[in-house]
Amino acid sequence: MESNLTLHTESPEETQEVGRIMGVAAQPGDVFLLEGPLGAGKTCLVQGFAKGLDVTGFVRSPTFVLMSRHQGRLTLHHIDLYRIQDPEEAWDLGIEEQLFDDGVCMVEWAGQAGDIFPEGCLWVHLDYAAGITHRTITFSEGSARYQPMMQTLSETFSPVRDAGV
Ligand SMILES: Nc1ncnc2c1ncn2[C@@H]1O[C@H](COP(=O)(O)OP(=O)(O)OP(=O)(O)O)[C@@H](O)[C@H]1O
Ligand SMILES: [Mg+2]
Repeated sequence: MESNLTLHTESPEETQEVGRIMGVAAQPGDVFLLEGPLGAGKTCLVQGFAKGLDVTGFVRSPTFVLMSRHQGRLTLHHIDLYRIQDPEEAWDLGIEEQLFDDGVCMVEWAGQAGDIFPEGCLWVHLDYAAGITHRTITFSEGSARYQPMMQTLSETFSPVRDAGV
């Protein structure tokens, strides 16, 4: 497994900037699985990502529509599984169609869908940190295809060292 990368942001703008850099580096077929508590900054990261893909217009949270699509350099599928009750519902939404096309997927509350995602997708875990506008963003389990993006992120933002490393 690829090693984890953890970044620390101190404002919504910084989280958006992390997303923007990801959007610039994104490749067709990339799938980002976003996790973290309410208000952690998942949608904020997606907004920056959309900017990095040159999507015009504001990306709102699709919580009520579950899935929305935006055109930029690549097609962005923004999926939010907060409201599903059962992993089966993720299948019913037909998200495998989006997962395997040549756009990119950003899936909020991906853990709600159980294990329907193929191996090697990049998990992005956002969480609160000390300080009201501080967050940690941890990347894990991504296959080698995400390595150049991880490299760029770690060169642009100072990674947080895991305890004991
Ligand atoms: N460092 C930060 N990064 C991201 N958002 C931040 C940060 N500091 C404060 N915020 C605020 O936290 C909120 C994050 O909201 P956002 O909708 O992105 O969260 P979310 O994880 O998508 O929540 P939900 O689970 O409800 O979809 C925004 O109001 C934003 O301004
Ligand atoms: Mg959200």
